[in-house]
Amino acid sequence: MSLLVTNIGELVTNDPAAGEGPLGIVRDAAVVVDGDRVAWVGPRAAAPPADARLDADGGGVLPGFVDSHAHLIFAGDRAAEFAARMAGEPYTGGGIRTTVAATRAASDDDLRASARRLVAEALRQGTTTIEIKSGYGLSVPDEARSLRIAAELTDETTFLGAHVVPAEYADHPDDYVDLVTGPMLAAAAGHARWVDVFCERGAFDGDQARAVLTAGAKAGLGVRVHANQLTEGPGVRLAVELGAASADHCTHLSNADVDALAGGDTVATLLPGAEFSTRSPYPDARRLIDAGATVALATDCNPGSSYTSSMPLCIALAVREMRMTPAEALWSATAGGARALRRTDVGVLRPGARADLVVLDAPSYLHLAYRPGVPLISSVLHRGVQP
Ligand code: NIG
Ligand code: FE
Repeated sequence: MSLLVTNIGELVTNDPAAGEGPLGIVRDAAVVVDGDRVAWVGPRAAAPPADARLDADGGGVLPGFVDSHAHLIFAGDRAAEFAARMAGEPYTGGGIRTTVAATRAASDDDLRASARRLVAEALRQGTTTIEIKSGYGLSVPDEARSLRIAAELTDETTFLGAHVVPAEYADHPDDYVDLVTGPMLAAAAGHARWVDVFCERGAFDGDQARAVLTAGAKAGLGVRVHANQLTEGPGVRLAVELGAASADHCTHLSNADVDALAGGDTVATLLPGAEFSTRSPYPDARRLIDAGATVALATDCNPGSSYTSSMPLCIALAVREMRMTPAEALWSATAGGARALRRTDVGVLRPGARADLVVLDAPSYLHLAYRPGVPLISSVLHRGVQP
């Protein structure tokens, strides 16, 4: 079954060989999808015939968003903690334990239903690839079931047993690191593609983070790191040294951190929803891009520091608050996210890529930042199908 997406005002391909500039823009374009793959991209006048058609009505079309950082397996919410922050309380990450207690007490069905609802919410806003982390179980059975449920929803699953030290290990944290790198990793590895650690004061220090990441890598998992969110620390440099796919947050960076990101192939994944929801200073995307680092944007969707599934919101914040151009922000939310997941089949519209695309109720991607908060996603194709 083939589908012709036609009457596209402005098509973003992210394929510089296919069109204008780094976004590979084609005007007055069409796309042909065959099954779950893109079959053809080009000017509308040259489009081959197809079985069915989707009229973009002059709207912009883009690759589906790639949200490379989300924590969707949890129960409960922390709206009261958010309200307290907006009244002046700082964010410390201490609320993670509240969500751990609620998650442990929830049934499998409740966790599954809540995560499904969030994936569907993200999809309606144009997210066609999403990474999902564990990290609110923090026991062997609870981390294993979090990842089993995550794997029902995405291929991009991440073991975050090292999110914080749970209360029962507060007095002997190194025993918790032994649990994470031993039995917990063994139970998680079959359901996870990636290993992650929250390397931060109050969570895991550089040595503990190194132990978790090297054990994960030895078990065949790719590496990603929560790095330099609340303070400067060893996270970013450790991520680059270990060849991590991504260092996430990157809010507090020394010049050496910026140089390391610019010189390595670790993507700097920026999460503006977290700074928005914790009322913290935003990371400086301009500094990273100007130094030569690759930047991705993601939501960090979680009940504590960033309870949004909206990539359009992240784009708008990145443009307004992080000194990114609209073109850079769009690239980072699509192709950048794909880089952060080491994927070449998503975040791009070219023959052979996955047929994941977004049709806008606006003539150009520029409107995502220009018209913040407005629901501009008029339709989504995910694996060639309109959900
Ligand atoms: O990425 N920083 C660590 N983890 C999450 C926050 C989790 C929470 O507060 O529940 C983050 O922001
Ligand atoms: Fe996170």
